[in-house]
Amino acid sequence: MTSSDPQDLQALVDSAQALFAQSATPADLENAKAQFLGKAGRLTELMKGMASLSVEEKKTRGAAINQAKQAIEAALQTRRQALADAELAQQLKAESLDVTLPGRARARGGLHPVSLTLGRIEAIFGSMGFEVAQGPEIETDWFNFTALNTPQDHPARSMHDTFYVEGGYLLRTHTSPMQIRHAVQHVKRYRAQLDAGESMPEIRVIAPGRTYRVDSDATHSPMFHQCEGLWIGEAVSFKDLKVVFTDFCRTFFESDDLVLRFRPSFFPFTEPSAEVDIQFQHGPLAGRWLEVAGSGQVHPNVVRNMGLDPERYIGFAFGMGPDRLTMLRYGVNDLRLFFDGDMRFLSQFQSAHA
Ligand code: DAH
Repeated sequence: MTSSDPQDLQALVDSAQALFAQSATPADLENAKAQFLGKAGRLTELMKGMASLSVEEKKTRGAAINQAKQAIEAALQTRRQALADAELAQQLKAESLDVTLPGRARARGGLHPVSLTLGRIEAIFGSMGFEVAQGPEIETDWFNFTALNTPQDHPARSMHDTFYVEGGYLLRTHTSPMQIRHAVQHVKRYRAQLDAGESMPEIRVIAPGRTYRVDSDATHSPMFHQCEGLWIGEAVSFKDLKVVFTDFCRTFFESDDLVLRFRPSFFPFTEPSAEVDIQFQHGPLAGRWLEVAGSGQVHPNVVRNMGLDPERYIGFAFGMGPDRLTMLRYGVNDLRLFFDGDMRFLSQFQSAHA
């Protein structure tokens, strides 16, 4: 091959194109490129070969080599693009998405129906100025019984009714111990005021939580929920209890004509005591009396155990069962369903709002 022959240059371009076409990967292609355009490549060699040519020859030869170089570069670029396109096509194929497949929805969690009820109870009593307090589920005998004026021989103290744990503790059988715990804290905060003969702000609190008894059937579970209520002041009367609890029940069940009945009863920590029954005027339960809470005027001994003078402080308390309220609200007839953890049952409440 003579260095001045443009046909040789065409052959060079052809062989570059052929080699590029054979290059199956970007790395192969870069190696092929080096053979033509690299420092020791064939085009570079041709350039060097021009040194001995006359000025006139250099001009034509130089232009021809340049053209060949551009053609090789263009071929290289085309092949690079082709390889990149192929790689992308490969990748798209591997990651292909079948948009006709059914979707895989991410499972969403939801609140437990009893949690929904507790949220409603807190919101409604919150709107009436009640604080929310929480306390221990493992209690002492003092808070669970003694401070609540519950005598040693009370049946609730029997081993059959209460879960006793080591160290003289027990699983609280009701949320009523929170009456004492909360009131004692409140009184402590206003001790100086009280000692100076001044008034303290009223105690207005609800205490929702888990409670335990040795009991298990369709309407009793060894673990269940209660929500305690307490309102203590200098002029809180049974009338206030009736107003507050009626208001609560009507709001909770979204039924303005719901009727309440306060049926005389006995609790050691209240005197007088009443059981609260509600009666729906509409729906499947219309006309039936349903018990929803225990209540009463806080017993003077209990007021005393709160650290207050029962001659000056008076009030009422109530204890209701959020599990039962949930059953009534949603029309569920077996309490155990709430605690079996069966998602088919529980997920029905997912979209329910508190
Ligand atoms: N602690 C009672 C129970 O578990 C319920 C109760 C009754 C709570 C009367 C009260 C109350 O605060 O005043 O059966």
